[in-house]
Formats: sequence, C-alpha cells, structure tokens
Amino acid sequence: MNQSSKQFSRIVGTGGYLPEKILTNADLEQMVDTSDAWIRERTGIEQRHIAADDQTTSDLAEQAARQALDMANLAPEDLQLIVVATTTPDKIFPSTACLLQQRLGNHGAPAFDVQAVCSGFIYALSVADQFIRAGMVRNALVVGAETLSRIIDWSDRNTCVLFGDGAGAVVLEVGEEPGVINTHIHADGQYENLLHVPSGVSKKPITDSISERSMHMRGSEVFKVAVNTLSQVATETLARNGVAPEELDWLVPHQANKRIIDATARKLKMKPEQVVLTVNRHANTSAASVPLALNEAVRDGRIQPGQLILMEAFGGGFTWGSALVRY
Ligand code: COA
Repeated sequence: MNQSSKQFSRIVGTGGYLPEKILTNADLEQMVDTSDAWIRERTGIEQRHIAADDQTTSDLAEQAARQALDMANLAPEDLQLIVVATTTPDKIFPSTACLLQQRLGNHGAPAFDVQAVCSGFIYALSVADQFIRAGMVRNALVVGAETLSRIIDWSDRNTCVLFGDGAGAVVLEVGEEPGVINTHIHADGQYENLLHVPSGVSKKPITDSISERSMHMRGSEVFKVAVNTLSQVATETLARNGVAPEELDWLVPHQANKRIIDATARKLKMKPEQVVLTVNRHANTSAASVPLALNEAVRDGRIQPGQLILMEAFGGGFTWGSALVRY
C-alpha cells in the first residue's frame, strides 16, 4: 500500500445496455387497471425495457461492461477488480460478478456482488473507489445490472408500472487527482417491510407463489422517505466536501420517479437541463439506473471532462448514498 502519495480513482470508461423489447404504458393498460396518463403524471415513466426470456443479468452486464472497457481502452484480462451491483443475480451462486468475469475471460481478479438494491451502484462505486485509494488495485470494473422484471408481479399495478431491466458500467483507473472526490453511503434496516421480496433462501425458500417471489412496496411511504433522505444526502455531500450547489454541473440521479428527482434538483437549485433524466424511457432499473444515465450523458457529449457530477440513489433496505465525481 502506498501511503506517501495520495491516489484516487477516475472514471475512464462508461457503458450501458438495454434489452430490445420495449413495454409501453399502453401495453400495461392491457395488463392491469392503469392508464398512460396516471403513470406519466405520477412517475414520469412512458416505457421500460424488458429482458428476453433467455437473457440473464450477466448477459446484460457483459454488454455494458464491454462498452465501458472499450472506452477505457482496457483489455478484460487486465482488470484487477470486478464489482457487480445487483438484486437479481443469475443464480444464488456463483456471484454475477464471477459469471461476468467468466464471460470476459478474466482470471484471478477479485470479483464479487454488492447487494444494496437501487443504491447498489453507488455502494459498488464506493467499494471500488476504496480499493483504488488504498493502493490494492489500479483499476476496477463497476457494474449495475438488473432483470427486475423477474421479481415483478405483472398483475400488481402498484409495482409493475415502475420497473425495467438494463445494465450500466464504469471502468475506474488510478489517478493522482480525483476523479471520485467522495462517496457517502448509508442504510437504515428498520424499513424492511416498506419495500421487499418476501422469499429468498433461508427464511422462505423461493416458491411458485408469484406474490412471495415478487416485490412488495408501500409506495407513498417509500416516496416520502426517499424525498427526505435524498435531500439530506445532497446537503451532506455538499457540506462535507465544501462544495456550493452552483458549482455542480450535473445531477445524475437514481431514476425511480420524476417527482422524486425534481424534488432533489429543487433542493440543489439545479436547472432541469442540468439533470440527466432517463426515467421516462428506462423506468426504474434499480442498480443499473445511475450508470445507464451517466453513460447516456457521457456518450451524447453533455457531460464533459472536468465537470462536477453529483450521483445519488435510494433503495430497499433502506439504503441510500451519493458520489461526488469530477469527470
Ligand atoms: N394505475 C392507476 N392507479 C394506481 C396505480 C396504477 N399503476 N398504482 C396505484 N394506483 C392508485 C392507488 O391504488 C391509489 O388509489 P386509491 O386512492 O383509490 O387507494 C391511488 O392510485 C394513489 O395511490 P398513491 O400510492 O397515493 O399514489 P402516489 O401519488 O404516491 O404514487 C407511486 C404512487 C408508487 C408512483 C409513488 O408513491 C412512488 O413513486 N413511490 C416511490 C416508489 C419508488 O420509488 N420505489 C422504489 C424506490 S427505489
């Protein structure tokens, strides 16, 4: 470990992948008692992507990872760390990170999953950033990948209109300047019953009961905690890093609900054009949403080198967090 000269992580590649199949609000009108107008007004969502029956989370992750590696000009075999944030792993084990490593043809780098539901990417980025700062590795692949559609009860209008599938990735490399300036991650486990899937492994093994293997959510209660918590973490991030709101160039938020995103942007006094919004087209892709949004704004040229980005997320657990990044 090198303690004398400080080292940081920098984002040197981004990637994203969305499955081909699109499910529109009009399609959902045929499936449950809902309307395009209700979904747009309450959430800002117009459509979502859904993985094909034979597509797994690691399939989505591989596509996003290869794009990020290409942009970083890094060969997969030279990766030193692979972290995948997911709530919808291919299997109970091996981890999706190990399955991704197998696909990429990397041998020997540590590879593991991080489970923090919709905050998973921020958690994974924080973990990988610490590995690089500590001098343990010189680069890392961080992926958020989900097939949320597999844990949705498609007859439950309270949840099925909100989620989609996808994957996003970044490659981090060591640098002398940040890069990732700071990450702030938190959890409060007391909220288990507001947002959860009842079945799993040791408590209630996965059964054929759709209700038990699908997401349950008390939406309006989750909404209130999310708005308050994201406002707090935005304030904390600015204060702890001595950054004024007007110094931020971009907000890259978790894409759960446009009204939650608007509330955070208002708190930060950011203009709508400084907010990277994908929720209308992607819906909530959980751990994939932040890296997918980042990748989109990097690739279309909105985010430019040197700009200051605040990423934030909130999810089941509850978990929440932020990353302040100089791109
Ligand atoms: N279509 C039509 N009506 C629906 C509906 C749907 N898809 N889903 C719920 N409703 C109904 C409810 O049954 C309720 O009807 P009632 O008043 O007759 O009981 C009514 O709409 C209002 O429900 P409410 O839950 O108060 O609406 P809301 O304004 O809070 O919006 C959410 C609902 C789910 C969109 C919103 O609460 C939300 O986004 N919550 C956070 C979800 C989230 O982000 N989860 C993931 C965190 S990472």
